[in-house]
Amino acid sequence: MSLKRFFLFVFLFISPSFSALLAPITKHHIQTSRFYTLKLYLMTPLQHTDLLLHIGAKYTAVDCNHNYTSTTSWPVPCNSPLCHSLQKFQVNTTNCNITRTTRNRVPGGCVILTHNSHARVDSLALPTTNGCNQGQLRVFPKFVLTCSAEASKLLKGHAKKEIVGLAGLGYSKYSLAAQVSTTTSIFAVCLSGSPSAPGVAFFELPKPYYFLPGVDVSDHLNYTPLMFSHITTQKTNKKHFEDAYFLGVKSININGKPTAIDQTLLTINTNGKGGTRISTLDPYTVLERSIFTTFIDAFTKESTTMKLKPTKPVKPFNLCYEADDVLETYLGPNVPLVDLVMQNDVKWTIFGENSMVRIVDEGLDVWCLAFVDGGVKSVSSIVIGGHQLEDNLLQFDLGAKRLGFSSSLLQHKTMCANFNFSINSTIKLF
Ligand SMILES: *[C@@H]1O[C@H](CO)[C@@H](O)[C@H](O)[C@H]1NC(C)=O
Ligand SMILES: *[C@@H]1O[C@H](CO)[C@@H](O)[C@H](O)[C@H]1NC(C)=O
Ligand SMILES: *[C@@H]1O[C@H](CO)[C@@H](O)[C@H](O)[C@H]1NC(C)=O
Ligand SMILES: *[C@@H]1O[C@H](CO)[C@@H](O)[C@H](O)[C@H]1NC(C)=O
Ligand SMILES: *[C@@H]1O[C@H](CO)[C@@H](O)[C@H](O)[C@H]1NC(C)=O
Repeated sequence: MSLKRFFLFVFLFISPSFSALLAPITKHHIQTSRFYTLKLYLMTPLQHTDLLLHIGAKYTAVDCNHNYTSTTSWPVPCNSPLCHSLQKFQVNTTNCNITRTTRNRVPGGCVILTHNSHARVDSLALPTTNGCNQGQLRVFPKFVLTCSAEASKLLKGHAKKEIVGLAGLGYSKYSLAAQVSTTTSIFAVCLSGSPSAPGVAFFELPKPYYFLPGVDVSDHLNYTPLMFSHITTQKTNKKHFEDAYFLGVKSININGKPTAIDQTLLTINTNGKGGTRISTLDPYTVLERSIFTTFIDAFTKESTTMKLKPTKPVKPFNLCYEADDVLETYLGPNVPLVDLVMQNDVKWTIFGENSMVRIVDEGLDVWCLAFVDGGVKSVSSIVIGGHQLEDNLLQFDLGAKRLGFSSSLLQHKTMCANFNFSINSTIKLF
């Protein structure tokens, strides 16, 4: 063995393998709307595809009438075992040729009535990763997705032609995370707040999660039980069915002081109502009315002790401060700390970067508390939204039924946009 080969051998033997997968996540900021898309490859020949990131969606859905041409795509036949598995308990042969709209109908195709869609199989590909860099693409030739008119409706609000569907990371065996995993899925998401520097999702990777300058975020995770429940939400008169992920939040502390919350609101009842859910579709955390009122009062009180005086609020927020009055630190504006307190006193601390949003407009420069009022009829009592998730790494371990969370990566002098997407030159040897 030549010396060069020997070193190559040693190197390959000791280096972590490129067996996991990744996808970049981009934030979009268009007028008043804020959302995240996940970039992957679909169809044959493979095409870069941007899909709306929906952490609770059961399926990955695309609008198949929207320029969908692929040589490897076929509809799942009605009454096939795959179709029965997809429909689960709702096999109804007379449903075979029916969808509520003609838009996504296929004769003899497998219909998923609850999602008003039919199922297809096609190729999907994601880059491999070792947790430090990006590797070659891995193709999944029999990826199951749905052709859904709902997907396009959900996207309408997001007014962006290039986004052709949604990426579902729910807990069903047909979610994106499950279909690219060989065992029970473990995936992580790290949302970047910057539209020009993407964050990242990792699949099939329990660790490491390296972010420049060489911080392995898997060393900085706290864990709390993850709960699962189906929920139905109503958005603009359309029902949405979700495989929602819940956390056992027991209280919300502000500057270490608990706020008075009706505990019954914090438990999930049998209809999936109540509790604390994670959502990538809500740009800001939404609190049920009574929780919201208590929260705003307590935050105002604590900020007064920090010599902060509220100014005229800017919609949709209720509490803002003049930017000139607020001190900035490496963890964002210096405001009262918010803790989500979970089982065993495990705390998710929300620093200024995640609790506040800066609004700069003509003659206006304010920091606003980035939490919104969910009203009295909210389905979930607390919905943790995108702004609060940015620059936090969340690891969903479906086997261990737990969530690993980092709290702000700024504490460790890194951020979600710091993943090194460069292709590691060593892998070009293959
Ligand atoms: C390439 O990846 C290996 C791990 O597979 C890592 O040890 C090495 O530092 C990387 N090379 C560069 C130049 O970053
Ligand atoms: C369909 O694809 C063609 C060619 O790629 C493109 O010019 C056109 O704008 C696309 N149409 C839509 C609705 O995206
Ligand atoms: C099957 O679906 C059709 C059309 O939606 C409905 O009319 C019928 O009652 C369903 N049958 C059963 C057994 O659920
Ligand atoms: C569905 O449509 C196909 C093609 O039109 C037809 O052959 C089939 O019998 C239909 N299936 C049912 C259950 O109606
Ligand atoms: C990113 O990774 C590439 C390939 O491993 C490496 O050559 C480069 O130095 C890394 N970038 C930084 C800023 O460390």
